Amino acid sequence: MKTLFELKKYAKLNKIPIIRPQSQKILRDLCLQKRPHKILEIGTAIGFSGAVMLSACPKAKLLTIEKDENLVQIAKQTFQDRKIEKKVEIFCDDAFEVLNDLRKDKSKFDFIFLDGPKGQYFKYLPILKDLLNKNGCLLADDIFFHGYVLKEGDPGHKHRTIVASLRAFISDLDNDKNFKTQFLKVEDGLLVCDKLN
Ligand SMILES: C[S@@+](CC[C@H](N)C(=O)[O-])C[C@H]1O[C@@H](n2cnc3c(N)ncnc32)[C@H](O)[C@@H]1O
Repeated sequence: MKTLFELKKYAKLNKIPIIRPQSQKILRDLCLQKRPHKILEIGTAIGFSGAVMLSACPKAKLLTIEKDENLVQIAKQTFQDRKIEKKVEIFCDDAFEVLNDLRKDKSKFDFIFLDGPKGQYFKYLPILKDLLNKNGCLLADDIFFHGYVLKEGDPGHKHRTIVASLRAFISDLDNDKNFKTQFLKVEDGLLVCDKLN
């Protein structure tokens, strides 16, 4: 699949969650505005958002993490079909393991797109902060988790842990003076964080 339209259609048919249209536009605009050289993505799926970022920043390199082997095969094909495979490194593993290794290697990124397991965002946060360059930008998708994060009261047994983790993630960044954090009430919520120091 070469075009974003084809990828979107495939994702819909196969019930694979990918970034929603307005959030996709914000992701693209941020990439155009920030012009990152090195991009890190958590949650590759079929390579849709990766393709969006690289079409906005053709000179950038993307390191993307996905634990599902079948999705990794599709994403590899996506990047080949679009002739951008040389700009992409895909890690097929649990994101926490890869993030820890990247930190050990002292890797740095200008832009991080966080779109993986929502319940893990708070656990990833100290590592993500280290991995981000000064003046770098972190974009986290779906941070309102179907609106539960915004609703007062107990979200119920099924969602309690994930909602608590997302609230802790948001509050940590909001209170961190090294970051300028903005909430965008777009679709299921976006968090845009610029690293100041
Ligand atoms: C919302 S989808 C990503 C969509 C993609 N960013 C896009 O917009 O085209 C989230 C992805 O994270 C992956 N994922 C979930 N838990 C993970 C983990 N612990 N490590 C790595 N990937 C994970 C899922 O398999 C899924 O493909």
